This record gives sequence, structure tokens and C-alpha cells, in this order.
Amino acid sequence: MIQRTKVTVVGAGNVGATCADVLATREVCNEVVLLDIKEGFAEGKALDIWETSPVNSYDTRTVGSTNDYSKTAGSDVVVITSGLPRKPGMSRDDLIATNAGIVKSVTEQILPHSPEAIIVIVSNPLDVMTYQAWKTAGLPDHRVVGMAGVLDTARYRAFLAEALNVSPKDIQAVLMGGHGDTMVPLPRYTTVSGIPVTEMIDADALEAIVQRTKKGGGEIVQLLGTSAWYAPGAAAAQMVEAIVKDQKRIFPCCARLTGQYGLSDMYLGVPVKLGAKGVEEIIELELNGDEMALLHESAKAVKEVADLLDGMGV
Ligand code: NAI
Ligand code: 2OP
Repeated sequence: MIQRTKVTVVGAGNVGATCADVLATREVCNEVVLLDIKEGFAEGKALDIWETSPVNSYDTRTVGSTNDYSKTAGSDVVVITSGLPRKPGMSRDDLIATNAGIVKSVTEQILPHSPEAIIVIVSNPLDVMTYQAWKTAGLPDHRVVGMAGVLDTARYRAFLAEALNVSPKDIQAVLMGGHGDTMVPLPRYTTVSGIPVTEMIDADALEAIVQRTKKGGGEIVQLLGTSAWYAPGAAAAQMVEAIVKDQKRIFPCCARLTGQYGLSDMYLGVPVKLGAKGVEEIIELELNGDEMALLHESAKAVKEVADLLDGMGV
């Protein structure tokens, strides 16, 4: 029998709708279900996206649902974007209690209808919301993964492409750690078509780009008054594509660590192989002392928020 593929995106707001639009336009799967708690909102967004199909020439069907999880049944991948976005002056961590409750309730409602799904978390604060979903779902580690590194490296790559006046397609990079100001872009693992980036840009300019990347989310919040959606939606869709098409892509993703990099019992951004099983492998790089120290500093910041979350008893 020919296998049809189905993806649910929970949260039809800025990021969720953009993700659904990219999934449909790129024909990543046969069906996209967009679900939101706001009456008629997901149906309206889904209908609008579906109405682009003749113009953009694709046939992925997009449907909407107001909190009716039966429509999500049999999803191969579920992307959770529901939650509040960051407003100016708010840190990602301010969102913790509200969004943890939302992620928990969505995870509980999704799983009975899609017991085989891989779950991709987008809601912030990302690393601990992924941890929350994993705790709630009770699934093996590889089936719950968070999206941050694909977005953060996209920003880093875009800034580098602009500075070097080269195509962003040719910039490859690794970035690790939490989705916050402690994230760790790794210039030593950054190349321009295989050429070490350090041979193409001076150290000060590179450091300025690293610092801009770390604050990349905040830069958009300052400009827009709310957080980004085009790049986050596209980044989540790229992860879904890797899973649905079993592409075995190597992406920085938020994955559960069980001793890798000397860290355990936590979710943190690391390079992984992403395929049909979700996180199929965590790749352990030979980090030098400085890089490892930065990673552990970032892990400490994430762990503090995770401990806060544990203390809330959500
Ligand atoms: P938004 O406000 O535009 O959309 C959120 C949607 O979630 C709303 O439509 C809301 O009605 C819905 N929602 C709330 N509770 C729900 C529930 N219980 N069930 C179903 N739907 C529910 O926000 P936006 O900009 O789309 O951001 C969504 C989340 O993604 C935020 O937490 C934001 O901080 C996070 N984010 C994470 C990024 C990352 O790199 N991981 C990047 C950008 C945003
Ligand atoms: C971003 O990085 C706020 O996490 C969101 O754009």
C-alpha cells in the first residue's frame, strides 16, 4: 500500500502557520493539520494556505481544527508551537510556567490519536519545553526533539553570508547549547564550501557575528515587538522534512543527553542525525577546552530553568 504522510502543527499563530505553509508549499507530506485553541483561527489559516495551492502549484492538503484532536489522528510528526511568544523586555524564561502548562496539555491530547508520532517542540523556553514534552509523553528519547539550532545556525549563516558577500547556501556551521544568550556558535566548525571560515574573515568581524547570533532572537523582538516567525517556521519545517523523508540530515537540535559531552538527564542543543526515528544519533564532537567550557556554561543556564520547572510541579 502507498503510504500517505501526515503532519500536525499545533498553534496556528505566526510560527505554526508559517511552518504549515512551508510544509505544504514544499510538499513535505500529503496532509497538514493546523490546530489551535482559538475558535476558527486554525481553520481560517489552513483555508488561506490551501487556497495558495493552485497558484503555488502543489497538492498537499492543509486542514484546520479548533481543538478537535481527532482530526490529527495518525500523524507521523507533530510540531508544537502553541504558547505565548516573547514581548520586548521579556526573557524566554519568563514564559516558562504558562507555556509548560500548554505544552503538557497539548502533548497529552496529541498522543492518544498519534501514538507513533515524532514530536518536534518549538515553544519557548525551548530546551525546557522540550524536556516538559518528554516528561509528559513518556516516550523514548529519540521521539521528542526541539527546534532551535536550525534557526540559530540559519541566523549565523545568514550574517556570515552577508559579511563575506557569498551565498548562504555555501555556509555550513555547527552551533550548540541552549536556545538563549548562552548558545555556543562554533567558528572552528564553520566552513564556506569546506574552507575554514577563519581563513575568510578576520577574528573581530567573526566575533561580532557570533555575538549578533546569540542575540538574534532579541534583535527581531526589538524590531517587530514580537518574536520571529519566517525563519523559525521554515527551520521547524526543515526538521519535519528530514524526519518524514528519513533524510538522515545532520542538524543541531535539542536532544536528550545521557552522558554525551559529560552531560546527562537534560535536553540541550547538540548535532544529531535526524531521520524517520527522530534523533537517530547524537554526534559527539571533539570540543576543545574553551568550547567545552562554554557548552557547560550554557547547560548550567538551561538546567537552572529545568530545575525551576521541576519545582513548579506542572
Ligand atoms: P503566536 O502567539 O503567534 O501563536 C501561538 C498560538 O498558540 C496562538 O494562535 C494561540 O492561540 C495558540 N495556543 C495557545 N494555547 C494553545 C493550546 N492550549 N492549544 C492550541 N493552541 C494554543 O506565537 P508565535 O510567534 O507563533 O510563537 C509560538 C511559540 O514559539 C512561542 O512560545 C515562541 O516563543 C516560540 N518560538 C520559538 C522559537 C524557537 O527557535 N524554538 C522561535 C520563535 C518562536
Ligand atoms: C527566536 O529566537 C524568540 O526563540 C525566538 O526568535
